[in-house]
Amino acid sequence: MILKHVIESQQFTVPMLVELFNMADGMERIVDRGGTGDYSNRIMASLFYEHSTRTRFSFESAMLRLGGKILATENANQFSSLMQGETLEDSVRVVANYSDVIVIRHNEVGGAARAAEVSSVPVINAGDGKGGQHPTQALLDLYTIHREIKTIDGVKIAMVGNLAEGRTVRSLSYLLGKFERVKLYFIAPKTLRMKQDITDYLQHHNVWYTEEEYLGKIVNEVDVVYMTRLEPAERIGIEPGHFFIDESIMKHLPHKSIVMHPLPRANEISATVDRDPRAAYFRQTRNGILVRMALLVSVLDN
Ligand code: CP
Repeated sequence: MILKHVIESQQFTVPMLVELFNMADGMERIVDRGGTGDYSNRIMASLFYEHSTRTRFSFESAMLRLGGKILATENANQFSSLMQGETLEDSVRVVANYSDVIVIRHNEVGGAARAAEVSSVPVINAGDGKGGQHPTQALLDLYTIHREIKTIDGVKIAMVGNLAEGRTVRSLSYLLGKFERVKLYFIAPKTLRMKQDITDYLQHHNVWYTEEEYLGKIVNEVDVVYMTRLEPAERIGIEPGHFFIDESIMKHLPHKSIVMHPLPRANEISATVDRDPRAAYFRQTRNGILVRMALLVSVLDN
């Protein structure tokens, strides 16, 4: 598969996703044997204007497993020429001269698209702003569902937490909307409900969804519980337990269902759930390496 940039989930078709997942399966064999030297003459720049552990490390690990090299700034807001007033566009034009692909996390919605507009090398969106997108997280989430549930058509998934601003759930909704008979259960406080651009998209594509305020009400119906983080300020005034999972909720989750989370978590998943084999969130992080290797190959072979 050849990709120019990776900016938003909508750019992927189902055949592209199938191909990407086959490539990711192949990457597992490469990781298991310690990597390859195939991309030893290629450089990835990771330009992060916001904090990150998983996305930055997994992209960097993916590039190293492919044999490539890395230029990294982990806090571009402080340690790049932004401090001297340089625009994002100028920084990207310059970094593109030093690298073969730019992985960017930006604090503004649309930051990655702006970067792609001026970049002479492929740009990958590693998350843009509150309420933007995080397409590579959504791709690894979908790959996790494909591996663990064995099908995406017909999957029933509860998305829980701050759905208004959570870029992972937004990107994942766009991807799931491309499959057949999917059912989405949005579980959010009234002030943080899924935004209308996503619900309009789902209605337009005839995707079934419902909105609830208590995970416990529907947990026995779903294949996947996708938890997201609620910041302390967002928890004020909400019903305790409604957006939280522990053994009292897990006992109603079907035996073959899974719990996912893009991480980092706050306290929305009790640590006692970690021991349950249905807790898939750490397996999910490993899938991130495989999917990001496949994405890097797809843009570098362009
Ligand atoms: N899931 C995710 O984007 O994590 P990081 O913020 O650590 O990259």
